[in-house]
Amino acid sequence: MRVSSERPGSAPLWSGRFSSDPSAILWNYTVEHADRRLLADDVEGSMAHVTMLGEVGLVDDGELAELKDGLETILAESIAGDFSWEDTDEDVHSAVERRLYELIGEAAGKLHTGRSRNDQVALDLCLYLRRSATKRAGELRALAAMLADRADDLADLVVVTYTHLQQAQPVSFGHHLMAYAWMVMRDAARFDDLHRRANVSPLGAGASAGSSLPLRPEATAEHLGFEAVFDNSMDAVGSRDVAAEFAFVSAQAMIHLSRLSEDLILWSSTEFGWVTFSDELTTGSSALPQKKNPDIAELVRGRSAAVAGDVATLLALQKGLPLTYNRDLQEDKRAVFHADDVLEGSIVALGALVATADFHPPPPGPWIGALDLAEILVERGIPFRRAHEAVGALVARLDAADRTLADVTSDELVAAHPQFVADDIDAVDPRQSIAGRQTPGGGSPDSVRAQVGKLREML
Ligand code: ARG
Repeated sequence: MRVSSERPGSAPLWSGRFSSDPSAILWNYTVEHADRRLLADDVEGSMAHVTMLGEVGLVDDGELAELKDGLETILAESIAGDFSWEDTDEDVHSAVERRLYELIGEAAGKLHTGRSRNDQVALDLCLYLRRSATKRAGELRALAAMLADRADDLADLVVVTYTHLQQAQPVSFGHHLMAYAWMVMRDAARFDDLHRRANVSPLGAGASAGSSLPLRPEATAEHLGFEAVFDNSMDAVGSRDVAAEFAFVSAQAMIHLSRLSEDLILWSSTEFGWVTFSDELTTGSSALPQKKNPDIAELVRGRSAAVAGDVATLLALQKGLPLTYNRDLQEDKRAVFHADDVLEGSIVALGALVATADFHPPPPGPWIGALDLAEILVERGIPFRRAHEAVGALVARLDAADRTLADVTSDELVAAHPQFVADDIDAVDPRQSIAGRQTPGGGSPDSVRAQVGKLREML
């Protein structure tokens, strides 16, 4: 690759010190393309920077007008998607400066006054993280709202919970969906939290230690709507904890979606028979004509693995780095973008799958009233451990005789513990069981409706 230093902006930003052009080996290995999606952020940051340069007198009015004009043009090109990238652009920052030279000539040389790509890229990343955090939080809240709507509609449907994937207790089906809605709400709140930490401007930190020029970092921060300015320039250019946090928050959200996916996949099996997905959102088998596969849910589950990997990437990227900026940090963006893209797409696809699913879970199995029976004895003063033993022994006897709690007789019940009376048999009815359940946040239809109401209020 040849880069001419006669054409300003087409040579590397740092060519002055070098007697030869960079080799193709160097160039191909080190050039960054992933950061192209930061083009508009980069221009927005530059706009704030030149405005501040004008305010402190480092560029005159004429230069400021030219710089702003050029940057406006680049922003328009970015929005229209017709910004043209050159092989000689080392990264997005170099590309903007090169294009600015093409548009306004020598005045472009003032753009980088008092700035380094180190604080510039940290700024671009903060702008990106801040925006994405807001978007993902909103999308997650919309997903939670949809889950709550479905839970509300299905509140009176009685199903079973599982622990250890064994039937445990009867609940409203809405309770299952609300469990996921609350997870998703916390994921949204985690994006709000990290937004505060991304909302600190690193611009003005320079290469590592600020500048001798009369810059006003608080002014650029204000132009860009940041809540605060960096306290330490070395920290500002060398830290990526917020990027790692973004990946973690995205990964945790993906893991929740993955668990929901796993339940949906199980529920859609013939053995469970809890749900049927719409034809448009399932795939077929090339070999087995009867198949209808829940590929969206499987891919959410599968892709969550690589997002968890992004967290590992961003932590490992930081662990051995000396202060301050090191080129290693260029790799941060790919992990952030990957995590962000996967989460964004997964919310859309899984949301559609759940919104259109036909839920038809069967009633709970015949052992489901065992705890309710034991709790009747507890209410009559029997220690829980004794009550558990008595009901457990009854279960064992019935099981050995190939029978279940569904066909236990009143006599057998009274024989199981002297404190039982004949009517207690009603407690094995799951409807009865969940209707009587008063624990706040428990699985009754009333509890589900209360949860739905609370979640809607939070939104
Ligand atoms: N492309 C670089 C990155 O993404 C920008 C900062 C480069 N700084 C430097 N001194 N080479 O991290």
